[in-house]
Amino acid sequence: MADLDSESVTREALAQMAATPDPRLREIMAAATRHLHAFAQEVNLKPDEWLAGIAFLTAVGQACTPYRQEYILLSDVLGLSRLVNLMHDAEGREAAGTETSLLGPFFREQAPEFALGESIAVHDTGGTEIVIFGQVTDSEGRPLPGAEIDIWQTNAAGLYDLQAGDATVMDMRGRFRADAEGRFHMRTVKPIGYSIPMDGPVGKFVHQQNRHGMRPAHIHILVAAPGHRELVTALYFGDDPNIDSDTVFGVSRSLVVREAMGLPGAPRADLPAVQYDFRLSRLGAGDGGGRVGSDPSRLMPAAE
Ligand code: BEZ
Ligand code: FE
Repeated sequence: MADLDSESVTREALAQMAATPDPRLREIMAAATRHLHAFAQEVNLKPDEWLAGIAFLTAVGQACTPYRQEYILLSDVLGLSRLVNLMHDAEGREAAGTETSLLGPFFREQAPEFALGESIAVHDTGGTEIVIFGQVTDSEGRPLPGAEIDIWQTNAAGLYDLQAGDATVMDMRGRFRADAEGRFHMRTVKPIGYSIPMDGPVGKFVHQQNRHGMRPAHIHILVAAPGHRELVTALYFGDDPNIDSDTVFGVSRSLVVREAMGLPGAPRADLPAVQYDFRLSRLGAGDGGGRVGSDPSRLMPAAE
């Protein structure tokens, strides 16, 4: 038996994991172990610092519920969600396909269904009413009839339904189906920029780093059509003061919009409108799931 030192302990840990039968799990865990050991060496990690890290991760887990996902939030503020998104896009998004953005921790499955033209602001109707309209096509501009569009956002006070009042009531979210030419239009209220949840361990972490914790105003959109990659994206309002300093790194220039009156083709002349056409990439090999985020209840189901 050889005595271990701070180099050979890494090799020994990797050797013990080498028999992991699942090759992808083996690859991921070996890389994670190598990088974790290198990180501890780089900062000369002290026992009390290591315990503080464990206490932090414990608190992150304890903050999770079927309505709140603190680990997704942690991944988001570290820029890891955006990195995974960018790598996934680089593999399968066609050049002309719409850019993706974060799903975030506030997506919910089975949002209410609406007819085209209806408003997702059902319970909380305060704020400036706007229209969103456009067309869903493939990356070459061919319409995708009947595409499914899921949209969700904060209310005009900057809160998601999961944060405002009774989290079991869905509001400011809905599912629509594009028409036979892939066209869609819906009403909502203009969102404002908002703070990520700062009342938990991740918020404390963001505060310690002197970051503002704000996201620029945006509307999340998920678009699906058979034979195409699910598009997880968001539209960001260009007049938000934090458009260049999103705490979770979700903004791309091509996703920045402004509402305007009198846009050609706008379905309502009396309301400001945002026009955006979504271009879906073809589904390719290895294009399984592109969601870097989840309905919190999928990761932690509510107790029966
Ligand atoms: C969101 O936009 O919903 C969001 C994304 C990441 C962290 C917090 C919120
Ligand atoms: Fe959001």
